[in-house]
Amino acid sequence: MNYNKADFQASYGLSSQLPDSDRPEFVFSGRSNVGKSSLINKLCNRKNLARVSATPGKTATINFYTVDTAYFVDLPGYGYAKVSNADRRRWDELINSYFDADRNRMLLVQLLDSRHMPSADDLQMLEYLQYRQIPFVVALTKADKLKKSEIEPTKQRFAELCEGYGCSAVILTSSEKGTGIPELQALFEQCLQQ
Ligand code: GTP
Ligand code: MG
Repeated sequence: MNYNKADFQASYGLSSQLPDSDRPEFVFSGRSNVGKSSLINKLCNRKNLARVSATPGKTATINFYTVDTAYFVDLPGYGYAKVSNADRRRWDELINSYFDADRNRMLLVQLLDSRHMPSADDLQMLEYLQYRQIPFVVALTKADKLKKSEIEPTKQRFAELCEGYGCSAVILTSSEKGTGIPELQALFEQCLQQ
């Protein structure tokens, strides 16, 4: 996959608007502010392909990017305290209908903040992925904020937890430093070759 051939395609706020499933898809999921857009930018070696928000909860749409022959799908973040019940329902509806649709999903990257224990929303998302049997890996984000001595214990702790949900790999990432980017790209290539 040529990551330099990346373009924003469109944002979808309604599941009925989703584009045809005409390419393999890599999906990015995680709570608001965990670093989904930043990771997509880093994977594609770009500064502003995906909008990085200073205010969490801004991305309330599913954003599609074309990356060479694949799609990157940036799911709306969850867990933002200030959303209304109506917005929450809309999020549920959008996510469910995306996963209900028969699409060529290759792999989902579930982002978790490496500095914190997973939130209740994170655990609910992990349960959802397991329940729907969605193949996924975990990217632990913002690893540049960890002390050196925290790196191994953090990886260990998350690996034990995530394995229980059917996660196939846990990768430490930093969109600031580029940590974990080659590992994620290698996993994507593996999926495409299967
Ligand atoms: P929503 O679109 O609101 O769901 O957020 P998001 O998950 O797309 O997060 P986004 O990429 O917008 O990043 C949120 C904040 O975290 C921004 O201020 C980023 O600069 C910061 N951030 C993201 N990745 C990293 C990282 O690897 N290291 C550090 N130090 N900061 C990061
Ligand atoms: Mg975002």
